[in-house]
Amino acid sequence: MRHLRTMGDLRNEEIFELIEEAISFQQGKQWTPEKQTFVANLFYESSTRTKCSFEVAERKLGLQVLPFEVGTSSVNKGESLYDTAKTLQSLGVNALVIRHPSEAYFEQLHTIDAVIINGGDGCGHHPTQSLLDLMTIYQEFGTFHGLKVTIIGDIRHSRVARSNAEVLERLGTEVKFVAPPEWKDKSFHDDAYITMEEAIETSDVVMLLRIQHERHLAKENVVDEYHQQYGLTLEREKRMKSTSIIMHPAPINRGVEIATELVECERSRIFKQMENGLYMRMAVLKRALTKIEGGSKHDNITKEWEMA
Ligand code: CP
Repeated sequence: MRHLRTMGDLRNEEIFELIEEAISFQQGKQWTPEKQTFVANLFYESSTRTKCSFEVAERKLGLQVLPFEVGTSSVNKGESLYDTAKTLQSLGVNALVIRHPSEAYFEQLHTIDAVIINGGDGCGHHPTQSLLDLMTIYQEFGTFHGLKVTIIGDIRHSRVARSNAEVLERLGTEVKFVAPPEWKDKSFHDDAYITMEEAIETSDVVMLLRIQHERHLAKENVVDEYHQQYGLTLEREKRMKSTSIIMHPAPINRGVEIATELVECERSRIFKQMENGLYMRMAVLKRALTKIEGGSKHDNITKEWEMA
């Protein structure tokens, strides 16, 4: 089974193969499965980017997409995730893309025959976000070695931070964090946390995270305070290195994590990340539904994974 539950399911070699495949799709490569193939997207949490880009990816690959909506399904009658997945498997669904609020929900699905692709599990992992971020960084810098990526914001509750930190370190990138004390994740060593000013002046990638202000910040003045202390302001952007880029998984709280004028500035790769998400999800679906054929056409990418 070629599940994608966490980045731990992928060897370094497979990560570079997926980047290569996603770039090929971006350049117009076509692929469809030999047999009729069904896929269902089970989103138990809200989503725009992940859900819509999987749906577009599935249609571009000629997959049969079940029009499954959790809100109008028998989940409303109390059906469990396992029984829902088992039902869809019984109907012949080959792949399930799942976003669920429970961390590691996929552990309860280990006997399901359909391929599981994790679209985000609580505060756990978000592997396709991580892969599209890797693709964006690779297209920018041509390597992961020797780069410094700083992830800024609500580290403790962020599945994006967890997935990205794990894999970027594996690929030779220095990963640092900036967070208010109450949002630090204790599983990362104290030395990994730096000041906002150091992050701005020394990072190749300034990666901002969404502040879940519906959960954390009750008052408008707290939002303003966050922007001043941890947000990417116009003044801070001027102090970034000339080659540095801004990333954010989105959705964005404009004026909180980032000044609204910077969302589409020259350094910003935020909408590029979204575009890359489509092609990376095509690559992930192809991997899930077939064996990836051997042999790399991109020597530089092959060399990169050999070094990683
Ligand atoms: N980045 C991301 O996962 O966005 P959505 O919640 O809109 O899918």
